[in-house]
Amino acid sequence: GLKKKEVNVLCLGLENSGKTTIINQLKPIIVCLSAFCLCVLQTQTQDIVPTIGFNIEQFKSSSLSFTVFDMSGQSRYRNLWEHYYKESHAIIFVIDSGDKLRMVVAKEELDTLLNHQDICSRRMPVLLFANKSDLREAMSSVKVSQLLCLENIKDKPWHICASNAVKGEGLQEGVDWLQDHIR
Ligand code: GTP
Ligand code: MG
Repeated sequence: GLKKKEVNVLCLGLENSGKTTIINQLKPIIVCLSAFCLCVLQTQTQDIVPTIGFNIEQFKSSSLSFTVFDMSGQSRYRNLWEHYYKESHAIIFVIDSGDKLRMVVAKEELDTLLNHQDICSRRMPVLLFANKSDLREAMSSVKVSQLLCLENIKDKPWHICASNAVKGEGLQEGVDWLQDHIR
Protein backbone atom coordinates (compact mmCIF):
# COMPACT_ATOMS: atom_id res chain seq x y z
CA GLY A 1 0.00 0.00 0.00
CA LEU A 2 0.88 3.67 0.03
CA LYS A 3 3.43 4.60 2.63
CA LYS A 4 2.29 7.47 4.80
CA LYS A 5 4.44 10.57 4.95
CA GLU A 6 6.36 10.71 8.23
CA VAL A 7 6.31 13.89 10.29
CA ASN A 8 7.77 14.93 13.64
CA VAL A 9 5.55 16.79 16.07
CA LEU A 10 6.63 18.40 19.33
CA CYS A 11 4.07 18.34 22.15
CA LEU A 12 4.70 21.20 24.60
CA GLY A 13 2.97 23.02 27.44
CA LEU A 14 3.19 23.39 31.22
CA GLU A 15 3.23 20.36 33.49
CA ASN A 16 -0.17 18.86 34.29
CA SER A 17 -1.81 20.44 31.20
CA GLY A 18 -2.62 17.01 29.75
CA LYS A 19 -0.02 16.42 27.01
CA THR A 20 0.59 12.75 27.76
CA THR A 21 -3.15 12.10 28.19
CA ILE A 22 -3.80 13.60 24.74
CA ILE A 23 -1.04 11.63 23.02
CA ASN A 24 -2.15 8.45 24.79
CA GLN A 25 -5.67 8.91 23.38
CA LEU A 26 -4.29 9.25 19.86
CA LYS A 27 -2.36 5.99 20.02
CA PRO A 28 -4.11 2.96 18.59
CA ILE A 29 -6.06 0.20 20.20
CA ILE A 30 -5.82 -2.70 17.79
CA VAL A 31 -8.39 -5.43 18.12
CA CYS A 32 -7.90 -8.56 16.05
CA LEU A 33 -10.43 -11.30 15.77
CA SER A 34 -9.45 -14.76 14.58
CA ALA A 35 -11.29 -18.07 14.63
CA PHE A 36 -9.57 -18.96 17.90
CA CYS A 37 -9.29 -15.85 19.92
CA LEU A 38 -10.07 -12.22 20.36
CA CYS A 39 -6.91 -10.37 21.18
CA VAL A 40 -6.77 -6.78 22.18
CA LEU A 41 -3.40 -5.34 21.44
CA GLN A 42 -3.35 -2.10 23.25
CA THR A 43 -0.68 0.54 23.02
CA GLN A 44 -2.63 3.00 25.15
CA THR A 45 -1.67 3.00 28.80
CA GLN A 46 -3.97 3.13 31.79
CA ASP A 47 -2.05 5.11 34.35
CA ILE A 48 -0.40 8.29 33.22
CA VAL A 49 2.39 9.71 35.35
CA PRO A 50 4.22 13.04 35.06
CA THR A 51 6.69 12.77 32.20
CA ILE A 52 10.38 12.72 33.07
CA GLY A 53 12.41 14.34 30.29
CA PHE A 54 10.37 13.21 27.28
CA ASN A 55 8.78 10.22 25.60
CA ILE A 56 8.62 9.38 21.92
CA GLU A 57 5.25 8.09 20.69
CA GLN A 58 3.70 7.27 17.33
CA PHE A 59 0.24 7.47 15.84
CA LYS A 60 -1.26 7.74 12.37
CA SER A 61 -3.91 9.85 10.69
CA SER A 62 -5.43 9.05 7.31
CA SER A 63 -2.46 10.41 5.36
CA LEU A 64 0.36 10.95 7.87
CA SER A 65 2.48 8.96 10.27
CA PHE A 66 3.26 11.09 13.31
CA THR A 67 6.28 10.75 15.58
CA VAL A 68 5.51 12.80 18.68
CA PHE A 69 8.04 14.08 21.19
CA ASP A 70 5.93 14.28 24.35
CA MET A 71 8.03 16.62 26.46
CA SER A 72 7.86 17.14 30.21
CA GLY A 73 6.34 20.49 31.13
CA GLN A 74 8.10 20.75 34.49
CA SER A 75 10.24 23.88 34.64
CA ARG A 76 13.44 21.92 35.27
CA TYR A 77 12.96 20.04 31.96
CA ARG A 78 11.70 22.90 29.78
CA ASN A 79 15.25 23.66 28.64
CA LEU A 80 15.12 20.35 26.74
CA TRP A 81 12.38 21.64 24.43
CA GLU A 82 14.57 23.77 22.17
CA HIS A 83 16.83 20.88 21.20
CA TYR A 84 13.95 19.39 19.19
CA TYR A 85 12.71 22.53 17.40
CA LYS A 86 14.84 22.10 14.27
CA GLU A 87 13.66 18.61 13.42
CA SER A 88 9.97 19.26 14.14
CA HIS A 89 7.39 19.89 11.41
CA ALA A 90 4.63 21.11 13.74
CA ILE A 91 3.93 22.00 17.35
CA ILE A 92 1.10 20.94 19.64
CA PHE A 93 0.84 23.32 22.60
CA VAL A 94 -1.43 22.19 25.43
CA ILE A 95 -3.04 24.55 27.96
CA ASP A 96 -4.97 23.67 31.11
CA SER A 97 -7.97 25.94 30.52
CA GLY A 98 -8.96 25.64 34.18
CA ASP A 99 -5.65 27.01 35.45
CA LYS A 100 -6.18 30.79 35.41
CA LEU A 101 -3.24 31.43 37.73
CA ARG A 102 -0.67 29.91 35.43
CA MET A 103 -2.04 31.25 32.14
CA VAL A 104 0.63 33.99 32.24
CA VAL A 105 3.33 31.36 32.62
CA ALA A 106 1.87 29.42 29.69
CA LYS A 107 1.88 32.65 27.64
CA GLU A 108 5.53 33.33 28.54
CA GLU A 109 6.54 29.84 27.44
CA LEU A 110 4.55 30.13 24.21
CA ASP A 111 6.09 33.53 23.43
CA THR A 112 9.61 32.26 24.16
CA LEU A 113 8.95 29.31 21.86
CA LEU A 114 7.57 31.42 19.01
CA ASN A 115 10.49 33.87 19.24
CA HIS A 116 13.16 31.15 19.23
CA GLN A 117 15.57 31.34 16.30
CA ASP A 118 14.74 27.80 15.17
CA ILE A 119 10.98 28.54 15.14
CA CYS A 120 10.39 32.22 14.35
CA SER A 121 11.44 32.16 10.71
CA ARG A 122 9.48 29.01 9.80
CA ARG A 123 5.88 28.63 8.66
CA MET A 124 5.22 25.59 10.83
CA PRO A 125 1.68 24.93 12.05
CA VAL A 126 0.88 25.42 15.74
CA LEU A 127 -2.07 23.49 17.13
CA LEU A 128 -3.25 24.53 20.59
CA PHE A 129 -5.50 22.47 22.82
CA ALA A 130 -7.50 24.40 25.44
CA ASN A 131 -7.63 21.19 27.43
CA LYS A 132 -9.71 20.18 30.48
CA SER A 133 -12.80 21.82 29.00
CA ASP A 134 -14.83 19.57 31.32
CA LEU A 135 -13.70 21.46 34.43
CA ARG A 136 -16.35 23.75 35.91
CA GLU A 137 -13.87 26.64 36.02
CA ALA A 138 -12.56 26.03 32.48
CA MET A 139 -12.23 29.06 30.22
CA SER A 140 -13.52 28.85 26.65
CA SER A 141 -11.06 28.42 23.79
CA VAL A 142 -11.90 32.00 22.73
CA LYS A 143 -10.98 33.30 26.18
CA VAL A 144 -7.76 31.27 26.21
CA SER A 145 -6.81 32.56 22.77
CA GLN A 146 -7.38 36.15 23.97
CA LEU A 147 -5.25 35.63 27.08
CA LEU A 148 -2.46 34.11 24.98
CA CYS A 149 -2.80 36.90 22.34
CA LEU A 150 -2.93 34.31 19.57
CA GLU A 151 -4.10 36.89 17.03
CA ASN A 152 -0.53 38.25 17.15
CA ILE A 153 0.74 35.09 15.45
CA LYS A 154 0.87 36.31 11.86
CA ASP A 155 3.53 34.16 10.23
CA LYS A 156 2.31 30.68 11.10
CA PRO A 157 -0.96 28.85 10.66
CA TRP A 158 -2.45 28.23 14.11
CA HIS A 159 -5.63 26.71 15.45
CA ILE A 160 -7.08 26.26 18.93
CA CYS A 161 -9.46 23.46 19.94
CA ALA A 162 -11.24 22.93 23.22
CA SER A 163 -10.54 19.38 24.41
CA ASN A 164 -11.26 16.90 27.13
CA ALA A 165 -8.35 14.50 26.86
CA VAL A 166 -9.74 12.10 29.46
CA LYS A 167 -12.75 11.43 27.24
CA GLY A 168 -10.88 12.03 23.98
CA GLU A 169 -13.18 14.89 22.97
CA GLY A 170 -11.90 17.56 20.56
CA LEU A 171 -8.73 15.70 19.69
CA GLN A 172 -9.73 14.45 16.24
CA GLU A 173 -10.64 17.98 15.11
CA GLY A 174 -7.12 19.06 16.08
CA VAL A 175 -5.38 16.18 14.33
CA ASP A 176 -7.44 16.77 11.17
CA TRP A 177 -6.41 20.41 11.16
CA LEU A 178 -2.75 19.47 11.71
CA GLN A 179 -2.83 16.96 8.87
CA ASP A 180 -4.21 19.63 6.52
CA HIS A 181 -1.57 22.22 7.48
CA ILE A 182 1.65 20.21 7.59
CA ARG A 183 3.64 20.62 4.42
P1 GTP B 1 3.85 16.59 32.42
O1 GTP B 1 4.22 15.30 31.80
O2 GTP B 1 4.23 16.68 33.87
O3 GTP B 1 4.37 17.78 31.65
O4 GTP B 1 2.22 16.70 32.39
P2 GTP B 1 1.24 16.44 31.15
O5 GTP B 1 0.99 17.72 30.44
O6 GTP B 1 1.73 15.31 30.33
O7 GTP B 1 -0.13 16.06 31.88
P3 GTP B 1 -0.77 14.60 32.03
O8 GTP B 1 -1.23 14.09 30.71
O9 GTP B 1 0.14 13.76 32.83
O10 GTP B 1 -2.11 14.95 32.85
C1 GTP B 1 -2.06 15.57 34.12
C2 GTP B 1 -3.36 15.28 34.88
O11 GTP B 1 -4.45 15.95 34.25
C3 GTP B 1 -3.74 13.81 34.92
O12 GTP B 1 -4.26 13.52 36.20
C4 GTP B 1 -4.82 13.69 33.86
O13 GTP B 1 -5.75 12.66 34.12
C5 GTP B 1 -5.49 15.04 33.98
N1 GTP B 1 -6.16 15.46 32.72
C6 GTP B 1 -5.62 15.46 31.47
N2 GTP B 1 -6.51 15.92 30.57
C7 GTP B 1 -7.63 16.22 31.25
C8 GTP B 1 -8.92 16.75 30.87
O14 GTP B 1 -9.22 17.05 29.71
N3 GTP B 1 -9.83 16.93 31.88
C9 GTP B 1 -9.54 16.63 33.19
N4 GTP B 1 -10.51 16.84 34.09
N5 GTP B 1 -8.36 16.13 33.57
C10 GTP B 1 -7.41 15.93 32.62
MG1 MG C 1 3.45 14.19 30.32
